[in-house]
Amino acid sequence: MKKDIISLLDLKKEDFDIFFKKAIELKKRFNQGIVDMPLKGKSLGLIFDKQSTRTRVAFETAMIQLGGHPIFMRSEDTQVSRDEPVKDTARVLSRYIDCLVMRTFDHTIVEEFAKNSSIPVINALTDSFHPCQILSDLMTIIEKKNGYDNIKIVWVGDGNNVANSWINAASVLGLELVVACPEKYSVKKDIIDNAFEKTKNNVVFTDDPTTAVKNADVIYTDVWASMGEETELEEKHRAFKEFQVNKELVAKAKDDAIVMHCLPAHRGEEISEDVLEAENSVFWDQAENKRHMHKAILETLISHNGYT
Ligand code: CP
Ligand code: NVA
Repeated sequence: MKKDIISLLDLKKEDFDIFFKKAIELKKRFNQGIVDMPLKGKSLGLIFDKQSTRTRVAFETAMIQLGGHPIFMRSEDTQVSRDEPVKDTARVLSRYIDCLVMRTFDHTIVEEFAKNSSIPVINALTDSFHPCQILSDLMTIIEKKNGYDNIKIVWVGDGNNVANSWINAASVLGLELVVACPEKYSVKKDIIDNAFEKTKNNVVFTDDPTTAVKNADVIYTDVWASMGEETELEEKHRAFKEFQVNKELVAKAKDDAIVMHCLPAHRGEEISEDVLEAENSVFWDQAENKRHMHKAILETLISHNGYT
């Protein structure tokens, strides 16, 4: 049966571990110059309603390197923008392509595509979740920290789509996760309730970033205003004053803590220039790993018609 990646709650722990193992192996083989083309003759559709640099290019290059072809579409160039129902578009695209990657605003649109497609559908970011980002970020944590067990991950910033996916990952994997957001911009109640229901107190919510980062192995941040929320930025500046990831905050974490950011970053807002430009930073490895993880995801969902 075809499998989708719409939310990380779709996956079991074994599924995560298969993706990590495969992505690390594909990265190693790529760096050794070995060419793997298991997706020769296959096509990947990408429908994006929001901007993207990393996710789009990482998926497109992943597909090309695996021997397949990406086809990029903006919704406004398709008949969806002229009111062709999603369920019709999904059924038609399923007759042409082997997998669909989608980035849009409303999460229910991706769910509707998945429900009506006979091909795998991958969420490349919605207002609610960014699952593939966290898969590749966990790969980076495994590389840098030799695993994700007993690693304290602290989210500092807005309670947004990326934070929600971290909480989902923590629910499935039992990660030690502290989510520090200003009270007004905390994650939504249904996400918190679900985390309390599914976790064994391994996810903690707070509005105090200074206490949160004590003993942190990983500090993670993201923009204060996500795509589509730009008008809120001025008000957010006040609410997030204490939430900038800067040298002072990082100094309160473990000496060997790493700072992560899904990027794009806004220097002087959620992260300081010196932290972003630190010599031993992991941001660029983190961005690179998106391509390796996207390869693992595409190879798995297209070739195996499932997660294994
Ligand atoms: N991290 C991430 O999703 O970046 P893009 O918006 O550039 O795809
Ligand atoms: N939270 C950000 C992530 C960008 C990759 C946004 O949705 O704009």
